[in-house]
Parts: sequence; C-alpha cells; structure tokens
Amino acid sequence: MYSLGIDIGSRNTKIVIWNPQERTIIWQGYQSTEVSALAAVEKLLALAASDCDLSKINKECVTGYGRKLYNKADKVLSEITCHASGCYELFPAGRTIIDIGGQDSKIISLEPAGGVKDFVMNDKCAAGTGRFLEMTALRLECSLHELSTMADQSDMELQLNSTCVVFAESEIIGLLAEGNTQQNIAHAVFMSIAKRIYAQMAGLSLIPSVVFTGGVAKSTHLKKCLETLFGTELLVPFEPEISGALGAAILA
Ligand SMILES: Nc1ncnc2c1ncn2[C@@H]1O[C@H](COP(=O)(O)OP(=O)(O)OP(=O)(O)O)[C@@H](O)[C@H]1O
Ligand SMILES: [Mg+2]
Repeated sequence: MYSLGIDIGSRNTKIVIWNPQERTIIWQGYQSTEVSALAAVEKLLALAASDCDLSKINKECVTGYGRKLYNKADKVLSEITCHASGCYELFPAGRTIIDIGGQDSKIISLEPAGGVKDFVMNDKCAAGTGRFLEMTALRLECSLHELSTMADQSDMELQLNSTCVVFAESEIIGLLAEGNTQQNIAHAVFMSIAKRIYAQMAGLSLIPSVVFTGGVAKSTHLKKCLETLFGTELLVPFEPEISGALGAAILA
C-alpha cells in the first residue's frame, strides 16, 4: 500500500506518493496553487493516475500554508515537522535545514535522529523569499533561472539597502537608471537574501550538514552566496520543492 503526502504551499502545491515498505517515492509532482489549492491537488492526482495505481493509497497527510483548505486527509501536520522528516529521509546526515519558498523562509535544527530540535520562521516579510526574486526577474525581464546565470557573471558588489521588497523595487529601478549592469543587480539581490537568511540563523546554531530546500533552492547562485556566508557546503535535493510533501507522506 502507498501513502499520499500533500504540501499546499503559498505558491505551489506538491504531492508525493510513497511506498513505506520499500521507502521509495512512487510519484512526485508540483503545480501552481493559484486560486484553488484543491483544484491543484485534483490536477496532480489526475496526472499521477496515469503512472500509478491510486487505489493503493490508504493514508493521506497534508501540510503547508494552505493545509486547512484540504479536509480529506487522515492527518494534518505542520510544515516544520514535515520538512524535517522529508529532509532526514533524503539526507540522514542533515542537521540544519534552510527552506525558502515563495512566501516564507524557515530554518530548522534537527536532532541527530531527525527530530525537530528548534526552528525559526520568517513569514512576515517577503524580502528573504522567492517573492523578492520574482519581482527582480520581472524588473530585469528574465526568468528565475536566467537571474542566477546572470548573477554568476557579476563583477562588482553593489549594496541593496532596502529591507522591504516594495522599496527594493524602487532601489533596483534607481540602480538600472544609474547604468549598473543587470548582472551586478541580480547578484546584489541574491546577496541581500543570503544576508537575511544568515541574520535569521542568529537564533540557532549552524550544525552541518546543511540541507537547502524549497523552490528557491533551484537558484545555484543563491546556493553559492549562502555557502560563502555560512562557510559550509549546502546539500540540495534533486527536486528541492518536494521535501515537505515527502515528509507528509512518510508521516501519514
Ligand atoms: N530557478 C529558480 N530560481 C530561484 N527561485 C525559484 C526558481 N524556481 C522557482 N523558484 C521560487 O520558488 C518558489 C516556490 O517554491 P515553493 O514551492 O517551495 O514555495 P511554496 O511552498 O509554495 O511557498 P511557501 O513555503 O512560502 O508557502 C517560487 O515562488 C519562486 O520564487
Ligand atoms: Mg513551502
């Protein structure tokens, strides 16, 4: 039999179908949450149905920002618990998790056996999240992927002083008007996010190995900035968005 893990994030809904006997992922996928999280779950299940037998699913667990919207699950668990479980499965040596999604950022300290020791979460300010990158990509007229490759070509450290995305947007417009390159501006944005995460970490002790998850972990440039600041290598799962849904499936 299989279990189903659902992570209804503010930007993307993710599902994982898990075989607990073999400890393998049977199916995984994500879909924009858009206006209806339930429609996103239905869409993902319809896609999964063409690859695997959904009648084998005998338990479900839901997590994520929108978890209360879904009432068919046997269990509803916090994002912190599910991210911890999913990351521990992927990287058993992981002791610190940095998850940056579309709307919040979380740092979780794990016990050696995978339990949650402590955590800090920023869900009040978009400046350290994917939202900041999306705004920047829009302003620089590029994709999120291109933003990273652009930043790799920067040749100067620019300072971004704004602590709020709305003001940072005006600052970026100003920097462009002054003739600064897109490459240097992109790098400054990634560094500003990395510094926010570094400051957020102040309440916790950084114990390696450090696992970097959430959609924002797809940014290879941000990974490099964080590695420079923290002085340690970051482990990124092959599909960095799905660790919360994986944890939900494991704990279902
Ligand atoms: N290549 C990329 N580089 C940088 N960021 C990216 C890339 N691809 C996606 N993202 C970011 O990942 C975000 C989505 O990540 P994720 O699915 O983890 O968020 P979420 O779980 O919905 O949000 P939250 O956890 O804040 O509720 C998008 O909003 C986008 O900003
Ligand atoms: Mg999330």
